[in-house]
Amino acid sequence: MQVPARAAALPAREQAFELVLARSQMRLPVQPGESMADVLQLAGIAIDTLCEQGVCGTCVTRWTDGKPDHRDSCLSAQEQATHVAVCCARSLGPTLTLDL
Ligand code: FES
Repeated sequence: MQVPARAAALPAREQAFELVLARSQMRLPVQPGESMADVLQLAGIAIDTLCEQGVCGTCVTRWTDGKPDHRDSCLSAQEQATHVAVCCARSLGPTLTLDL
């Protein structure tokens, strides 16, 4: 994935990353300011959302590879080891793989 030069100046939590969908083999860029839920919905992948603030758990999805930057308040640490709230989480690395 090509990360724009201006992204190098952004804090790690706000940098662009690539969302990899393990089952469909799709790769979707997530830009700063976009949520994974928005990107998935724009790609035609059904992700239910409600609060869009990491509170309700509606959007929780299993992740399989990468290093999520969890920003929710609905998952326990144990749950975060396997699942991520795609409405608010980002990635600490260049890619994050979801079980979709
Ligand atoms: Fe509520 Fe994501 S939509 S936690």
